[in-house]
Amino acid sequence: MTTEELLETPYWIVDILPEQVPEGSPGRYFAVERYFRQEDRLAAIRQKHINVILKLSCYRKISLDGQTGEDLSPESIAEEMRKRHVCVMLDDSMIVAEPDDTYMTVYHPGRKLLELIRTIAAGEGLHVWQPSSKEDGCKMRGKKELKTRIMVAPTPVILAAAYDENGKADVCTLAFYTPIGLEPPCVMIGINATKKRKTLQSILRSGAFTVGYPSADQVKEADYFGVVSGYETDKLKNAGFSVTEGRAVHAPVIREMKLSLECRVIHTAVVGSHTQVTGEIVNILADEDILDEKGNVVLDRLDPLMYDEESLTYRYLGGSFAPAYRTGAEFRKSLERSEGTVQPCTRADKGV
Ligand SMILES: Cc1cc2nc3c(=O)[nH]c(=O)nc-3n(C[C@H](O)[C@H](O)[C@H](O)COP(=O)(O)O)c2cc1C
Repeated sequence: MTTEELLETPYWIVDILPEQVPEGSPGRYFAVERYFRQEDRLAAIRQKHINVILKLSCYRKISLDGQTGEDLSPESIAEEMRKRHVCVMLDDSMIVAEPDDTYMTVYHPGRKLLELIRTIAAGEGLHVWQPSSKEDGCKMRGKKELKTRIMVAPTPVILAAAYDENGKADVCTLAFYTPIGLEPPCVMIGINATKKRKTLQSILRSGAFTVGYPSADQVKEADYFGVVSGYETDKLKNAGFSVTEGRAVHAPVIREMKLSLECRVIHTAVVGSHTQVTGEIVNILADEDILDEKGNVVLDRLDPLMYDEESLTYRYLGGSFAPAYRTGAEFRKSLERSEGTVQPCTRADKGV
């Protein structure tokens, strides 16, 4: 059986808990799970998983990524299991282990193998149980529950700018930025209201702001505007950037930005930690060299700076590879014609 086929077969969990925790249990599953997920405790559980696999390899021929037991030393199995997700194949079954998990999953074990795993796991203080349904509430098959947090990977990084009460231009770097309406055209930014953010105060006071799109080669300046406050120093001056007043709003346009939106504040809302400010786009300023002959912005020429909140790194934007709306429309047509296999448009097809 292939790995994909095995993933569709019945499976058992080798776990620190003796049975599935039912949904709605009065116990404290998530708090306890968090406790065990701390690095030193996880390392101890991982070692138990390694012990189970190594002990199993005394009775069964196992393979890891095509390497068989003979080529694999116990040390190298242990090392691989400590650093990455592994699929251990044995008989006609598979054990999947993740260094970050408190459990391993055994797919399609025969009765004898299951008994052997149970016995070995028990010696390590681990339990083997079968989920009562495919989706067991806590451990949805093939899915990991992650700590709740923002999932914004990746977003463009923009520079929000506004004048303070003395006419001095403030700027800050924002990743919480999104188009939010077409008619009127609107964008929304989210700025932390619980912390001192000078730019937020200036936006709220003046009722206007600009959104500047830094290019990837302006990463140093963009990051700097996000780590220093205008309460401390004149960031724009220090970075060698200059501003001019917008044509439609009283807000500073940063000359070094190839694309700037002039926005009038039309709505604000405090949602938890952040103030969400909706701005109607009342004017757009673009450098000629980022436009095509029809006046549309060519993203590759703008080369917007992208940000990945998960890895806390900046990224480039990838190339375009499929027409929007048409790709789905064609797919729909082919489904309606019941053509069976539909060829999706992939990056590789387009040479991206
Ligand atoms: C990549 C990056 C993204 C950021 N995104 C946001 C954001 O969306 N909202 C926010 O409140 N602060 C964000 N910040 C932090 C502010 O830019 C930072 O606190 C800045 O110093 C505020 O400056 P000010 O006090 O002059 O307004 C971000 C910082 C970086 C580096």
